[in-house]
Amino acid sequence: MLRVAPDPAALYRDAVEEVTRIASEAVRRAGVFTFALAGGSTPRELYRLLAAGDSPFRARLPWDRFEFPWDRTHFFWGDERLVPPDHPDSNFRMARDAMLAIAPVPPDHVHRIRGEAEDAATAAADYEQELRRHFGAGGDALPRFDLVLLGMGADGHTASLFPGSPALGETARWAVAVRRAEDAIDRVTLTPPVFNNAAHVVFLVAGAAKAAAVKQAIEGDAPPERLPSRAIRPLRGTLLWLLEREAAALLGR
Ligand code: 6PG
Repeated sequence: MLRVAPDPAALYRDAVEEVTRIASEAVRRAGVFTFALAGGSTPRELYRLLAAGDSPFRARLPWDRFEFPWDRTHFFWGDERLVPPDHPDSNFRMARDAMLAIAPVPPDHVHRIRGEAEDAATAAADYEQELRRHFGAGGDALPRFDLVLLGMGADGHTASLFPGSPALGETARWAVAVRRAEDAIDRVTLTPPVFNNAAHVVFLVAGAAKAAAVKQAIEGDAPPERLPSRAIRPLRGTLLWLLEREAAALLGR
């Protein structure tokens, strides 16, 4: 499914509503909401608005009171760079500054990827252990996030799944180390089987620079090795693209 917003303000309003709806449903059903956050710059405004709570959209929301279930939400990340948590490139830091440090989030509900680890393989293995602890999943049972939020780069990458990356073919591990040739930055990413086991996956994409990749991802037939966001196909969950007009400009419909 996809929805196109006429401008960035409408995109973020739709995203706040969608995330809050999914969170409320998860809490009603299971008492807890597990949320894998995206990095990059696009979601910053969404995080800020969620934490602001008293948003200008409040009156439009289908609940009597717009209250995000902070005390029931557990935060994870889809990917991270191998940098300390205070580093400007840290995805954890972006979410912390925009949302987690502002909203009433219990500290033990924040399950970050330890970018300060000695190497990315260690950080990936530690993160997988953290997921196993939290989801109580043993053996081959994959974790099932209530919501995975993803962004997409102009080359079609999502999380830290880059074109040509061996991580795209990973079938056993839940989190792996990756190194992107272009920038030689070590990273950790969740793998396609984990993303595809989520109950809901939402892509949030804005800007004309993404328009060609959006068209390829949604209407093209490139294999995931060339366009990694095409590896995201929830097996028993929903996939929603929230697009801002310029990002959707090349779509056929
Ligand atoms: C990251 C990401 C990455 C991001 C895209 C889009 O860690 O940077 O998780 O996959 O979502 O590169 O980034 P922008 O929102 O900054 O365009």
